[in-house]
Amino acid sequence: MMKISLKFFVLIFLLFSCKQNQSNLSQKKEKLDYQALGRDIVTQSQATILSHLSFAIQNQGIPAAIEYCNANISHLIDSLSKVHHCNIRRTSLKLRNTANSPRNEDEVFVLQQFHENYVKNKRLDPRLVETDGKFIYYQPIVIMMNTCLKCHGELKKDIPTEVEKKINRLYPNDQATGYKLNDFRGMWVVEFE
Ligand code: HEC
Repeated sequence: MMKISLKFFVLIFLLFSCKQNQSNLSQKKEKLDYQALGRDIVTQSQATILSHLSFAIQNQGIPAAIEYCNANISHLIDSLSKVHHCNIRRTSLKLRNTANSPRNEDEVFVLQQFHENYVKNKRLDPRLVETDGKFIYYQPIVIMMNTCLKCHGELKKDIPTEVEKKINRLYPNDQATGYKLNDFRGMWVVEFE
């Protein structure tokens, strides 16, 4: 009698702990899935923007490419959001377009953490956060190629006066110059629905 109930108890315990492990595991898996999905979405979005940008630069030169960005980039990112059924944005602590300002304290906090790690020469790893059952993926943006410097580099040195004028006309409050290669520039935010 004692033996049976002990077995029974052990069995129930195992079943229960197994179930708990499973739900922990599936939570972990879900997190990994969203992390991988976020990374893929950013990779695709970055490639799309870059190909449009390169095309505009090659065909019309830098000043016209700036105008192209001004008129089209936000629509391009909105259509990427629709395709991927999520909300994709770019934001920064040093903005060109104030429409890209951080939306809430969490975004400012994550940007500051990335910035701190960058200053301390630590790795900038993407982050996945869950709030109210929603997953949000943050991926740091680094000035990874010389092309970026043509519009975000040092004035006079990388950015000729004619380009500077164009930037100032379209973005009178621009803060997004003076960058060097490998500098921390901002981040992608992918909010899953
Ligand atoms: C042809 C000029 C040009 C080039 C080249 C360029 N950018 Fe930009 N960038 C802009 C303009 C213009 C905006 C503002 C777009 C808008 O109005 O939303 C911008 C906005 C951004 C933003 C959004 C935050 C903000 O400040 O508004 C990030 C992040 C960014 N650029 C990073 C990069 C990176 C990284 C590269 C290199 C891969 C790059 N840019 C290359 C012109 C350029």
